[in-house]
Amino acid sequence: MTGEVERLRVELGDRAYEIVVGPRLIEGAGREILPLLRRRQVVIVADETVARLCLATLRDSLSEAEIAHHTVLLPPGEETKDLGHFGRLAEEVLEFGVERGTMLIALGGGVVGDLTGFAAATLLRGIDFVQIPTTLLAQVDSSVGGKTGINTRIGKNLIGAFYQPRLVLADTGTLTTLPRRELLAGYAEIVKYGLIRDAEFFTWLEAEGHSVCDLVPMALRRAVLTSCAMKAKIVASDEREEGDRALLNFGHTFGHALETETGFSARLLHGEAVALGMVLAFDFAARLGLVAAETASRVRRHLDAIGLPTRLSAVGLADLSPDHLLSHMSKDKKVRDGRITLIMPRRIGEVFVMKDAPVDALRDFLSAVD
Ligand SMILES: NC(=O)c1ccc[n+]([C@@H]2O[C@H](COP(=O)([O-])OP(=O)(O)OC[C@H]3O[C@@H](n4cnc5c(N)ncnc54)[C@H](O)[C@@H]3O)[C@@H](O)[C@H]2O)c1
Repeated sequence: MTGEVERLRVELGDRAYEIVVGPRLIEGAGREILPLLRRRQVVIVADETVARLCLATLRDSLSEAEIAHHTVLLPPGEETKDLGHFGRLAEEVLEFGVERGTMLIALGGGVVGDLTGFAAATLLRGIDFVQIPTTLLAQVDSSVGGKTGINTRIGKNLIGAFYQPRLVLADTGTLTTLPRRELLAGYAEIVKYGLIRDAEFFTWLEAEGHSVCDLVPMALRRAVLTSCAMKAKIVASDEREEGDRALLNFGHTFGHALETETGFSARLLHGEAVALGMVLAFDFAARLGLVAAETASRVRRHLDAIGLPTRLSAVGLADLSPDHLLSHMSKDKKVRDGRITLIMPRRIGEVFVMKDAPVDALRDFLSAVD
């Protein structure tokens, strides 16, 4: 591999694994995966869109390394992350004749990654899997950390398992075909890392964010690596979200309420909801006197400049009832005993868990946001 490729480790004892970041990694995937295999047999899981773009390259690379492979194709979209598709995927993989040594490869965005990871966690009580994330969101967030799961009619990600991959290959070259809107949604999660733990990184993003979103290789690699390194560190210290890992949910409680309102549809992508959620968290913090109003404006300015939504009116949600939003927020999985828990900023680069958010102040704030 070339010097453009960087590696970092998620330190989880005997379940530690590497995240490899760089261009053209799919071309060399066979060689990377081979040492991890107990049998020279893998099942690739991909959605049809991603399959058209990079499945042939992955298959060639596996054949070159003399690894037998079978492919399961799924329709693209969040609807695929459901019990029905999980059942079909599980049975198709079993029909193929998997054994404990067979490995699954998730080739795609967070939908394919979460579903394949959950299949790996449960088939034969656990088989190995590798993540090859092809969206920016999956490269900086969902492929790292071992949260796997599927949606139910009752809510998102309510069935799942903590189950770590054996390897993550974040091939930054795949992002050239990603629609701009999906790319920006992934960028919101990159900004989140700066806001929660690394003020210097946020300042760098203010200067270089456009280069990241224009896929300038050096900038893109630094952004993906810094994000993965931070997530890897947090996951290594708190794999099951009993402490610091919850900070990664910054912007997500507000965001989740907005996604619930829009039915988790393409009307509002997850990353767009997170961008709005982070702006709301900073604005609410300014209202409570926790941060300076100028700090909240700075966050909004950057997300605006990149082209992410920062006002509810921009996504047709200005008329939402505050009580509706509050009820979604208190149904959020981060809520204990009907109270609202928020991840709130202290400054750029530092957030904390606010266990009992002042609901009346929150209602007043939500009534006035546009
Ligand atoms: N496990 C976690 O920790 C975690 C964290 C965040 C989000 N998630 C989950 O991730 C999912 C969202 O992931 P996502 O945003 O990657 O969505 P996605 O997987 O639906 O991908 C978005 C769209 O982009 C297409 N696509 C993927 N790669 C492409 C490429 N290289 N070029 C062109 N098109 C491409 C896909 O076919 C799809 O239509 C949600 O289900 C969310 O719950 C999980």
